[in-house]
Amino acid sequence: MKRIIQELEERRAAAREGGGQLRVDAQHAKGKLTARERLELLLDPGSFEEYDMFVEHRSNDFGMDKQRVPGDGVVTGHGTINGRPTFVFSQDFTVFGGSLSEAHAEKICKIMDQAIKVGIPVIGLNDSGGARIQEGVASLGGYAEVFQRNVLTSGVVPQLSVVMGPCAGGAVYSPAMTDFIFMVKDSSYMFVTGPDVVKTVTHETVSHEELGGATTHTTKSGVSDASFENDVEALVATRRFFDFFPLSNRSGVPKWPTQDPIDRAEPSLDGLVPDNSTKPYDIKELVQKVVDEGDFFELQPNYAANIVIGFARMEGRTIGVVANQPTVLAGCLDIDSSRKGARFVRFCDCFNIPIVTFVDVPGFLPGTTQEHGAIIKHGAKLLYAYAEATVPKVTLIIRKAYGGAYDVMSSKHLRGDVNYAWPSAEIAVMGAKGAVEIIFRGSLDDPEEVKIKTQEYSEKFANPFMAARRGYIDDIIQPRDTRRRICLSLRLLREKTLQNPWKKHGNIPL
Ligand code: HXC
Repeated sequence: MKRIIQELEERRAAAREGGGQLRVDAQHAKGKLTARERLELLLDPGSFEEYDMFVEHRSNDFGMDKQRVPGDGVVTGHGTINGRPTFVFSQDFTVFGGSLSEAHAEKICKIMDQAIKVGIPVIGLNDSGGARIQEGVASLGGYAEVFQRNVLTSGVVPQLSVVMGPCAGGAVYSPAMTDFIFMVKDSSYMFVTGPDVVKTVTHETVSHEELGGATTHTTKSGVSDASFENDVEALVATRRFFDFFPLSNRSGVPKWPTQDPIDRAEPSLDGLVPDNSTKPYDIKELVQKVVDEGDFFELQPNYAANIVIGFARMEGRTIGVVANQPTVLAGCLDIDSSRKGARFVRFCDCFNIPIVTFVDVPGFLPGTTQEHGAIIKHGAKLLYAYAEATVPKVTLIIRKAYGGAYDVMSSKHLRGDVNYAWPSAEIAVMGAKGAVEIIFRGSLDDPEEVKIKTQEYSEKFANPFMAARRGYIDDIIQPRDTRRRICLSLRLLREKTLQNPWKKHGNIPL
């Protein structure tokens, strides 16, 4: 027995070595941590329970029969983050470049299957050269098995990908189907075809970083939700982010202790909106002043910044925040912001996270770029997402809520549960100036008369009272009371039940 125990320990030690010291040194030289070092930072100390440490690949081609490394390039198992459980896999670049073999894929699939059964999230730390070239189609099959599980897992438990190295070719589609993607600056990249293929096919010269680095995907493509300076920052942020997650679609949102009183008044909000309604202000200031302890985890801050999305808490419970941002494109909805907002709303709805929407939207962005880019379909995504969502929906109109965008942004008509407005709200088909130009086209020449009519329209429509009179707004609230009113609404809605008609699934305009 003693000998067997000793052998077990020796085998474990061999597995922990991964691809050996030289390759570990090379990994460190690139500023990257190893797969196991990453897990140590991600999970609570001593909480990691490893699976399949002794799994090896089954390939005999191209000399692979002489190269078997226990674990086969991915460390899998489960552990806790601040006491709450999660499944994890961490690809080990020191073993065959973290490439995905049939056996490697089976290890990932095993934890995903268990995650669905027990209702616990999956976090993947990706660092891989892609399909194991020596295995051919067996490796492609392995990817497809993972993809299939990404889809089946979607909406059952949260899935988060942290891309910490290469992720190229079809391999990108696994992270793409998870709920969120984090990336590390300078050491990670994601693309379907790399710079060499791009050069051959389109004659463009582009670097890895430019084509698919963290900055590209957090500013231009919107593929990634956040980027971080290095592995440590990314993993620390992942721990903080995980604290917002429900464990599954059955579990409800987590509740954390908070010192922030529900009735904390915020007098500074009374002066947030400038008198001149064309002047911008920062909506994030409002979000931070309203939520628990000012703690707002923003996603995609540098992509489609005309809409702000992210997680926060009210009375210690997770909420999803969606807010138009007047400082960028005046807060207009366009293609990118509609897609960004829609996917976030759908995540919240999957996992029973109440949605708080702050509205200041002058409409949809006009122009051929938008129309030819299918703003009709993309804008409809946000509309569809809000309309199908059955989670508690609390909406606050701060200033403009014009036209179709009024309807889209969690209006009463899309089953908004509690809809408030500040006294500064202007709920109308369009701004007063544009309205007068259309109503009196050709009949008003005198600028003084135009001014009078604009004033008249503005007094009549550019306020929250018309909407309140019809019950589209439940109340007009003092800005300083915003936190208390939203908290009370969320408290009221905690046990809300609402079901959509039975269907296999809807057909969101993709
Ligand atoms: C097997 C691989 C590998 C792979 C890397 N290695 N990628 N082994 N299959 N896909 C091995 C290398 O042989 C090397 O082994 C070690 O990993 C480290 O690789 P290096 O090249 O030394 O590292 P680096 O210079 O950092 O370059 C990393 C890299 C490069 C850019 C990822 O290795 C690379 O281009 N690899 C091939 C990528 C690729 O074409 N993959 C297939 C994509 S198609 P030693 O023993 O020397 O340490 C795909 C399809 C998925 O993935 C489809 C799903 C539907």
